[in-house]
Amino acid sequence: MALPEPCRLGVLISGSGTNLENIARRIEEGSLPARIAVVISDVEGAYGLVRARRFGLEALFVDPGSFPDRASFDRELIRILEDHRVDLVVLAGYMRLVGPEFVAAFRNRVMNIHPALLPSFPGTSGVADALNYGVKVTGVTVHFVDEGLDTGPIILQEAVPVLPGDDEETLHQRIHEVEYRLYPEAIRYFCEGKLRVDGRRVEILG
Ligand code: GAR
Repeated sequence: MALPEPCRLGVLISGSGTNLENIARRIEEGSLPARIAVVISDVEGAYGLVRARRFGLEALFVDPGSFPDRASFDRELIRILEDHRVDLVVLAGYMRLVGPEFVAAFRNRVMNIHPALLPSFPGTSGVADALNYGVKVTGVTVHFVDEGLDTGPIILQEAVPVLPGDDEETLHQRIHEVEYRLYPEAIRYFCEGKLRVDGRRVEILG
């Protein structure tokens, strides 16, 4: 069932934030029935914070270095996200593994986008790893986050061919184009209550 009010998103970033900007634009245009309640970066200079503020969004840097361990850092993120009454946590180029407490606090309510066809090439260099491996096809995966590294139930995937002469930049550019389509689509399904998780499988209702 769809949520009674616009779906509240908490977006976590570490870098440039073009996916965040794309989601914010879709919301502004009215094609994504959601609202970004808060943006959090674990990197102080992340350009995504600048993009977020341009959209008038609340954008916070939370310094992992000022917490004794990952669990206490995660607890601070949970606190902020709960304070903002977030329905869905959207990892958009967030390069840090979330811990078990975080996953438990938002079970099946944390999404990640990954620039490869999982389970191939997990981790923080999915584009370069696919290119260096020599695959002819890579792609984009949107999945729910579980306790593993890029192992959660898959919501959407789309293939992207590796073209002769591709370098990391050209390939990532084409992957980004697919991401800008797939991530809002997956978020919209969530917000419309259309995603049902059954073990490893995600059914898209309707
Ligand atoms: C995106 O391509 C995303 O798939 C990738 O980081 C990029 C962030 O771009 N995420 C990962 O590699 C996660 N392991 P953006 O900051 O411009 O949205």
